[in-house]
Amino acid sequence: MCNFRLKTFLIPCCALLILAGGVAAQTVSHEEAHRKAEELLKKMTVDEKVGQLNQSSGVTMPFLGSQKPDDLISQGKVGSVLWLIDVKEINRLQHIAVEKTRLHIPILFAFDVIHGYRTVFPVPLAMASSWDPSVEEQAQHLAGQDARAAGIDWTFTPMVDIARDARWGRIVEGAGEDPYLGAAMARAQVKGFQGDTLGPDSVLACVKHFAGYGAADGGRDYDSSYIPEELMENVYLVPFHAAEQAGAGSFMSAYMDLNDVPATGNKWLLTDVLRNDWGFKGFVVSDAFAVGSLTTHGFARDGEDAAYKAASAGVNMDMASQTYTRSLANVVSTSKVNDAQLDALVLPILETKYELGLFEHPYVDESKVETTLTRPEGLALERKVAGRSMVLLKNDNKTLPLAKSVKKIAVIGLLADSKSDIEGGWTVESLFGAPGKSHPVTVLAGIKNKLGPDAQVTYVAGPPMARLYPSLFDMISGARPPAPPTADEVADWLAKTKAAAGDADVVVAVLGELSSMSSESASRATLDLPGIQQQMLETVAATGKPVVLVLENGRPLDIRWAAEHVAAILEAWYPGTEGGNAVADVLFGDVNPGGKLPVSWPRSAGQEPLYYNHNLTHQPEDQPGFTSRYWDLNSKPLYPFGYGLSYTNFKFDHLRLSRKNVKAGEATEVEVEVTNTGAVAGDAVAEVYIHQRAGSASRPVRQLKGFKRVALQPGETQTLKFPLGKDELEFWSPQTKAWGVEPGTFDVWAGEDSTASLHAELVVE
Ligand code: BGC
Repeated sequence: MCNFRLKTFLIPCCALLILAGGVAAQTVSHEEAHRKAEELLKKMTVDEKVGQLNQSSGVTMPFLGSQKPDDLISQGKVGSVLWLIDVKEINRLQHIAVEKTRLHIPILFAFDVIHGYRTVFPVPLAMASSWDPSVEEQAQHLAGQDARAAGIDWTFTPMVDIARDARWGRIVEGAGEDPYLGAAMARAQVKGFQGDTLGPDSVLACVKHFAGYGAADGGRDYDSSYIPEELMENVYLVPFHAAEQAGAGSFMSAYMDLNDVPATGNKWLLTDVLRNDWGFKGFVVSDAFAVGSLTTHGFARDGEDAAYKAASAGVNMDMASQTYTRSLANVVSTSKVNDAQLDALVLPILETKYELGLFEHPYVDESKVETTLTRPEGLALERKVAGRSMVLLKNDNKTLPLAKSVKKIAVIGLLADSKSDIEGGWTVESLFGAPGKSHPVTVLAGIKNKLGPDAQVTYVAGPPMARLYPSLFDMISGARPPAPPTADEVADWLAKTKAAAGDADVVVAVLGELSSMSSESASRATLDLPGIQQQMLETVAATGKPVVLVLENGRPLDIRWAAEHVAAILEAWYPGTEGGNAVADVLFGDVNPGGKLPVSWPRSAGQEPLYYNHNLTHQPEDQPGFTSRYWDLNSKPLYPFGYGLSYTNFKFDHLRLSRKNVKAGEATEVEVEVTNTGAVAGDAVAEVYIHQRAGSASRPVRQLKGFKRVALQPGETQTLKFPLGKDELEFWSPQTKAWGVEPGTFDVWAGEDSTASLHAELVVE
C-alpha cells in the first residue's frame, strides 16, 4: 500500500513493556524445520490451518474495512501481520499469538523494507545504476538487520519486475529493463536480506510481483499485461528465476491480469512454472487485497470462488483481503480444495517460522532497537552506495567537478531542499507520515556542508509542486486540491530565479519529480519536468552562467532541452538519507561518478515502451526508404542503456575469445582490456553484449551477458574475463518450446554501454 499515509489510522500503542528474554535462537535447518512443521500440522484443525494463511493488517483502515487484529489473533486466525512498525505493538500482538492461542504459533511480521529501514538507501533503480550488486547486497543486508532488530521478520523485497516503459511509476522500485542486470540485482538482494540461510538474524525476502506486472498496458499501474510465453521466459521471468535460485523464501503474486488470467489466480505461473519447473519450496503471498479483487477482475464469481481459485492456483497466503478467513474453510468442506492441498499451503509457512527462529525467540528486544537503528556505519554505507549509484549524463568537461573554492552558488528548485523527496518513496516516513526519525540531508544542505560557512549559497525554491500535484493521500481523504500558482506568483519566482543565477558563479538546478509521482499508482502520461521547472531551467540558462542540472526522479524524464543547453547533468535519482552529501561528493569531485543507466533514456514518452534489446526490424531506421521510424522524432534513445560518464576516460581494447569455435553447451571466455586514459582515478563498467545472427527465432539486436565495475588509477590497465557458455548463449524458442543453445554465429561486443563497437565473433557448432 505504497503512498498511503496511514498516520491517522495507526492503532494507538499499548503501553505494555515486554522484555525479551533468553539467549538468541539458534539456526534451525530446513530438514528440522520441515519435521517440526509436519508434526505441528498434524495437531491443527482446518480453522487453525486457514488462520496461518491469513495476513491481517496491523493498522486499522476503516476505508478498506480492516479492523484491529486482536480478536482474530486470539482465535488463531492470523498467520502474519503487515504494515505494523511499532515495536511495542508488535510484541503485544505476538504475546497474544504465543500465549493465548491453543498451539502457540508465532506471527510473522511483515513490512515493505524496500530500500532501507531507518537509514534509507537510494531507490532500487538507483542501486541498479551502480552496476555493483555487491553494494546493493550490503545495503539490503544492513536494511534487513535493522528491520529484524525492530521486529520485522519479512520484507516485500526485492521487486524484480522488468520495466520497459518509463511511464509506469513502479519502474523506480526495480532494476530497470534488462533481465541479466535484473537477475544480478535480484540475487544480491535476496542474499542481502536472507544471508546464506534463513535464521534468527535474517529477514525473509519476498520476490514480487509475480509476474509480468511491469508490462501494464499504456504504462498504467495495475492494468492488464499481454506477454507471449517466449517473452515471459526470455525476459520477464529471468530475474524471478534468479531470485528463486538464490534461495528466496517467498514470492508475491501480482495484481494484474496476465494474458487474461489474473496473476493471483494463475496456476500456470504459481504452480506450473514456480513450483513444478523451478522447484520452489517457499510460499506465495498475494499482493494486498488481490485475492478479494479476483471478483473485481471478473474472474471469480464471489468470495468463495476467489478463495478457491487463488488457493488452487498456488497462493498460500491472502494479504489483507480476509477472503481466505471468510471462505476457505467452506471451500475445504466441499473438498474443492482437499486436505492434502490445504496442508501443502500451510506447511511452508510453518517451516519458515521455524527457520526464522520465531518459535524460540518470538519477541523483539526493545532495549536494542534504537542502538541498532542508529549505528553510524549505516549512514557511511548509505553515502557510499548513493555515490556509486549516480549517473553523469552530460559534462562539458570544464564545469564538473566544481572547484571547492567557488564563492557564489545559486541552488535552484523545490527539490533542492526537500527532505520528504530525497529519500524517495516506500520509506517509513512516506508510508506512515511519521516525522523525523531519519534525518535526510538535502542537496542544498550537502553543498553547504561541503563548502563550509565562507561560500555564499543562494537558494530559490520555486512554487510548491504540491499545489499542482496533490498527494494520493489527499485525494483518498477527499481533501480539496490546493490552488495552482497564479501567473503573478510564477513571474515572481522566475524573477527571483534570474536574480539568484545572475549573481552566482555557477548554478545548480535540482529538478525532477516529487517522490510521490513515481511508485505505486503513480504512472505518468508525459515525462516532462512538472510544474514551472522547465521555465526555471531556461531562465537560469539564459543568464549565461554555467548550469549543472541535478535530477531527483524515479524514472527517466524528457530532458531534451537540458541535454542541449546546460553544461552538465547528474542523475541522482532519489539518493537516500545521506543523498545531499553524496551529491555534493560527486559535484565537487570527491567521488568520481561511475554509475550507468539501467534503462534506455527516452527522448519523449511517445517512444515508450523503449528498450535496447529489441529485435531487428526488416527496415531499421538507419536504412534508406520505408523504415521503422517516427515522422517527428528520432526513435533512438537520448542516452543508451548502460551509458554513464566519468571525470576520467576509459579505453577498451584487445577483445578476444579464448575459443572462437565451441560446441553447443561448451563455454568460451571473453577477455577485454580496459585502461584509464585520463588524469584521475575512476570506476569503469565493462559491459559484454551478444547477438545470435540466425536461429529458430529472431533474437534481440543485443543482449547484456556480462558486466564488471572496476576501479582504475590513471594509466592503469586491467584485463577482465567473462564466461560465455550455456547460461549466456541459450534462449527459450517459441518453436521448440524449450531452452537451448542453437548452432550459429554470435556477435560479441565489449565496451562502455550498449552501443559498444569493439567486436568479436563466436561460432557455435
Ligand atoms: C504493493 C506491494 C506491497 C504491498 C504491501 C501493495 O499495494 O503492490 O508491492 O508489497 O502493497 O504493502
